[in-house]
Amino acid sequence: MSNKHNIAVIPGDGTGPEVVAEAVKALEAVSRKCHVDIQFKEFGLGGDLYLKEGKLLPDDVIGELRTADAILLGAIGHPGVKPGILEKEILLRLRFKLDLYINLRPVTLFPGVDTPLKDKGPEDIDFIVVRENTEGVYAGGGGFLKKGTPDEVAIQESINTRKGVERCIRFAFECCRKRNKNKLLTLCAKTNVLVYESDLWERTFQEVHKDYPDIDTNYMHVDALCMWMIKNPEQFDVVVTGNMFGDIITDIGAIIQGGLGIAAGGNINPEGAAMFEPIGGSAPKYSGQNIINPLATISAAQMMLDHLGEQEAATVLQDAIKKVLENDLKSLEAGNMGCGTKEVGDLVVGYIEG
Ligand code: IPM
Ligand code: MN
Repeated sequence: MSNKHNIAVIPGDGTGPEVVAEAVKALEAVSRKCHVDIQFKEFGLGGDLYLKEGKLLPDDVIGELRTADAILLGAIGHPGVKPGILEKEILLRLRFKLDLYINLRPVTLFPGVDTPLKDKGPEDIDFIVVRENTEGVYAGGGGFLKKGTPDEVAIQESINTRKGVERCIRFAFECCRKRNKNKLLTLCAKTNVLVYESDLWERTFQEVHKDYPDIDTNYMHVDALCMWMIKNPEQFDVVVTGNMFGDIITDIGAIIQGGLGIAAGGNINPEGAAMFEPIGGSAPKYSGQNIINPLATISAAQMMLDHLGEQEAATVLQDAIKKVLENDLKSLEAGNMGCGTKEVGDLVVGYIEG
């Protein structure tokens, strides 16, 4: 028996609990198969708790989450709560408080999955975005002046620290080396306009590169990169970028790999805590109907196993996901899969056990 892993589970809002239930089911199956010891502990954070008790992310809960080996999150976002409150006070606060400074978002098109890109297949769409996850405009600097008057001013600052930029870039170089594909790391920024922050990113990138002579590098402005992700995604291996650009380009990444039904990501502190999540939202309009696709969350669980050092279990789980994608689903979209949320979970479990 391998190490015991304590996993904190935050099902969250909307369809979160439904997809998390299937991911837990898949993790239990793969644990039995590969003799991995996983203990789950559930935390009822989200819109319902906020509406009932006014609680968002209490400090004692943060303390407990900090001691978990990893966190599995469903989704945060509730139709009864004004947009921004839950996202800022739960999701973003977790990223900041646990210093989850890497947002790792693989963009992989699996065989059997449709991409909206003409003439592109799994051999063309296979790269990773390393998004900085604690700084930039997300740090919340700025404010209003004369709010609500005709003279009002809104300032939204982008905070970029040398330490924050460097640790992210270093992680991206390591990731590129470990991945061992084209050994090409692309920096995505906007040096022609953001002459302070992109300058810091570019200088740091060049300095850190000296420690990784085996890795080739190139640079793209974010607008051009959006275009190239659609025109020639095969040129990418690992892309590193700041928080806001990373948020935007990974939605393009999600759609070219088959959509939010499959896209997963990890919020990682390489020296500490880590939280894995499907990158789609809580999709409340689909909740309670057994029609949402749980594969993105099951893929997040697979990334979590990988992070925990359970490579064999991660491979078994990924193979099961691939088989479901190749053999069983009509589409990845909610309501059009040809089977329900629970049935997709059952199929994954079937391939794990088979
Ligand atoms: C994401 C989401 C979040 C972000 C929102 C919900 C705050 O879009 O994880 O990409 O902007 O980071
Ligand atoms: Mn996003």
